[in-house]
This record gives sequence, structure tokens and C-alpha cells, in this order.
Amino acid sequence: MSIAKKEYKRITVKTLVDMKSKGEKISMLTAYDFTMAKIVDGAGIDVILVGDSASNVMAGHETTLPITLDQMIYHASSVVRAINRSLVVVDLPFGTYQSDPKEALRSAIRIMKESGGHAVKLEGGKEIKDSIKRILNAGIPVMGHLGLTPQSIYKFGTYTVRAKEDHEAHQLKEDALMLEKAGCFAIVLEKIPAKLAREVAESVSIPVIGIGAGDGVDGQVLVLHDMLGMTHEFNPRFLRRYMNLYEDMTTAIAQYVSDVKSKDFPNNEEQY
Ligand code: KIV
Repeated sequence: MSIAKKEYKRITVKTLVDMKSKGEKISMLTAYDFTMAKIVDGAGIDVILVGDSASNVMAGHETTLPITLDQMIYHASSVVRAINRSLVVVDLPFGTYQSDPKEALRSAIRIMKESGGHAVKLEGGKEIKDSIKRILNAGIPVMGHLGLTPQSIYKFGTYTVRAKEDHEAHQLKEDALMLEKAGCFAIVLEKIPAKLAREVAESVSIPVIGIGAGDGVDGQVLVLHDMLGMTHEFNPRFLRRYMNLYEDMTTAIAQYVSDVKSKDFPNNEEQY
């Protein structure tokens, strides 16, 4: 398998906007630790998202709500130490930006100063407009996130497709225009109808990156552990698995256990 061609030496927020204007699709994956981020960056990914999905895949929580700012900074700084080329975007976790714009800015500043990440991502539209503006005014690039916003899971009660009703679709389009106007450099659209996502991508000049949002957007993002098949209980329609690491790792570990028990490991060449 070939490694992606690295036409751009270092990805910046401006590179992403240029990619959209040239019709070049943007690749984005999550990563939360040094070793994985090194592989992801080396394979040619454009954007690494230190997602608050770390709460699920790294910490085993049911939702993204419990992860803290300190924990996000720990994950993000591990990722930043690994990368040479990718743009690193870090999620502001639940409870660190919704209550007031000053707190939002303080949280974003902590991420930028203490992790070395290049941008932050916030979930929501008009209700967090002032927080987004405050962060942008401090020179911190912001990626928006609309559609299914997992930090609001208890408001909706399910992880089903969002914006199927006309009024929700209308609000989502308005929010996307607001994010562009405020100065966000990109927007993630999660789990919405493909037709709506295409309309949004065509209506804004900033890149729109989809997850479960179809092929009419400017790029795609997946959770690394899902696309590598390390998680196996989660099977949404939009997820393409490129490996079955759950099975491969289980087989390898079971073989190791058996080799230790049978005294096959270590053999003569594997000792001093
Ligand atoms: O936290 C995350 O992994 C995300 C992606 C699903 C976009 O926000």
C-alpha cells in the first residue's frame, strides 16, 4: 500500500482552505497518543483531531462528557510531540466553553499553551457564537462542529441521524453560515443527510469535513480506533473498517500467552 503523496510540507489552516478551492479532499483522523500519532502523521494524514472521543476509546466512558481539560491537554501534547506535518486540532471538552466566553478563551489558551496544538474545535452553533468569537479574537483558529454533537447527547437521547426535519436543516445551514462569518477555518458535520451536507459545503468557502455526512463535503474524518477495527461493538453505516485489529491483536496476544505457558518463549536466540 502506498503512503499518501505529501505535496504540502506542513499543513496549516490556510492549506485546508486552498485544498477546498482546488477541489482536493482533506483527510482527517483522530489520535490521542504519541505512538499512534506518529504512524498517522507519517502515513500522510492532513489533520489529526485530538477528539474528546478519547473519553470513549481511551478511558472507556459511555459518553464524551467526563473527559477534562487537563486530560485533553495530556493527550494533545503526546500527539504534538509525534507529528511533523499534520495540523493538530484539539477538542474543547464539555463544560469548558459553554458557560461564558471568557472561560472559553481561558480553556482554549490552556490548550494552545500547554499542548502545542494548532487549533481548537467546539460543538454547537448560535448558542456558542460569543465564545467562538472571543477565541478567534485571540488569534486561535477554531473548527466548528454541527449536526450530531455528542456533548449534547442527553438533550437528544440518541445518536441517530440529525437534521432530517426541515426546521433543523434550516438551523444547521444558518449555523454553518454564522461559523464561516465569525471566522472559523473549517466545520465538521456529523451524521446528517448527505444532500444537506453537500448543500452546506457548497454554501460556504471554508472546508466542510464530514463523518457520516456523505460524499459531497470537502473531506472525511473517522475515529482511528474504529477504522482500524480495534473497537468492534460500534457499527454505524458510515464506518469503513480498514483492518480488523481487534481480531488480529487478540490472536497475537493469545499466541504470546500460549508461548509463555509452553516455555516456547523466550528461545535460545531471545536471551543473553
Ligand atoms: O471527538 C471526536 O472524535 C470527534 C469526531 C467524531 C469528529 O469529534
